[in-house]
Amino acid sequence: MEKNHELTPFYTKLLEYAESDTVCHDVPGHKLGALDNDMILYAGNHMFKLDANAPRGLDNLNRPTGVIKEAAELMADAFLAEKAYFLTGGTTMGILAMIMSSCRAKEKIILPRNVHKSAINALILSGAVPIFVKPYLDDELGIANHMEYDEVEKAILDNPDAKAVFVINPTYFGVTSDLKKIVEFAHSKDMMVLVDEAHGSHLPFSALLPGSSMEAGADMSSCSLHKTVGSLTQSSILITQGASVDHIRLRSTINMIQSTSPSSLLLASLDVARKHIYFEGPKQIPILIKMAKDTRDRINKIKGLKAVDDKYFLKKHAYDYDETKIIVKVSGLGVTGFDVYKEMFDEHHIQVELAETHLILAVLSIGTQQKDLDALVNALKIISDKYAPMNLPALLPKIKYSYPEAYTRPREAYHAPKKYVPLNQAVDEIAAESVMIYPPGIPIVIPGELISQDILDDLDFYQRSGSVILSDTEGGYIKIIDKEYWDKWSELYEDE
Ligand SMILES: Cc1ncc(COP(=O)(O)O)c(C=O)c1O
Repeated sequence: MEKNHELTPFYTKLLEYAESDTVCHDVPGHKLGALDNDMILYAGNHMFKLDANAPRGLDNLNRPTGVIKEAAELMADAFLAEKAYFLTGGTTMGILAMIMSSCRAKEKIILPRNVHKSAINALILSGAVPIFVKPYLDDELGIANHMEYDEVEKAILDNPDAKAVFVINPTYFGVTSDLKKIVEFAHSKDMMVLVDEAHGSHLPFSALLPGSSMEAGADMSSCSLHKTVGSLTQSSILITQGASVDHIRLRSTINMIQSTSPSSLLLASLDVARKHIYFEGPKQIPILIKMAKDTRDRINKIKGLKAVDDKYFLKKHAYDYDETKIIVKVSGLGVTGFDVYKEMFDEHHIQVELAETHLILAVLSIGTQQKDLDALVNALKIISDKYAPMNLPALLPKIKYSYPEAYTRPREAYHAPKKYVPLNQAVDEIAAESVMIYPPGIPIVIPGELISQDILDDLDFYQRSGSVILSDTEGGYIKIIDKEYWDKWSELYEDE
């Protein structure tokens, strides 16, 4: 039966509750906005009135049977899936749940090395063995991007015992792999296909965008509706289709990592965002793509800058490109993306999504207005006028393409005895923590990998360029496996 996407079952019920003048002797302690803390004074108490915990009638996210179930059915329908789970811990949580529910300890999973840190954490929690595929390395932009089909096929053929293949659709930079072909081949070898669609929640809503995970036949996917579709930050979904998904195991995994007090604001925002994108996406995404194209054309007329497009990425072996991402190569001005990122914010009040050595990335959505794109172009023009006359030497590609070698499984490294050493004494040691640049949050080294001089040089470069480095250890130290105690300790501790 055709679904009525005008309905917002969860939000409607929540609104009814907020307006019901119920006397609250339950949590949360703000009593639906009855306090006068600074945030309530700023935002008004409407937002707090919608922040209910678990009143009767509002269903239970851990085992939905009422309005959450109805809202999830509409979500599944909109995303061409069979089933949808609402998540309040972002796609970070969706990735943990997908991997933990499909791979047991010591089972293999094929995945690109440039995965988000949540996939690495899922390897630690599940104990799975990563089979990393080297992503396409784009020399011109200095980035690691999508996986090429042949590389995935080879990994599948070399590892016939792998349980799953994990694909990013699209990458942070908007590029996709041939997901349909990957799914067909993986399924022919009895492997599941799990998709990180953190940056692709809008894909099902316009034929002008790359295909979505469910269209390609993938088993599971997690989408950050908060990133490109307009729900509140941290609200995501996990969608599934097909008989390979073990829903009992998936549900228990989700419940293991889900708060017992999930935010009703986040859930309601998913419900209304689904309705909005369902009706507005098909109308507004084509307009947005045209606006993005015009913006690229204008940027390409500015000295020292290059806004890359679908033709560029197709030449770089991409399967498809999401044109709602604007990538501007700025290194032709002799400055880094990090410099421009800072200058954009400090001097032009523009926050872009991320910077890399050579580029900045602006992420658009149907909330983007023409005046916002004009501001971006104007700021880039001012920045170019400042640097182009200086004739600074254009930056050379920095990326070294040296992914570290794995010494042991991430989970084993996580549990092994550790010690801390200064970074400059860490060469040839085994990392016991992930070290990453944020954004994008992709680890340079993960637990269990050998630390090479190249890795340390990369870290040093990122540190000097002012990027945010995330790791457990601070102050120029890194956590490594204490090899001396490791052997002795392994005899005592039997993992799994
Ligand atoms: C590629 C990728 N995957 C997953 C995530 C995690 O998504 P979320 O922020 O919704 O937890 C991110 C976040 O930036 C990401 O860039």
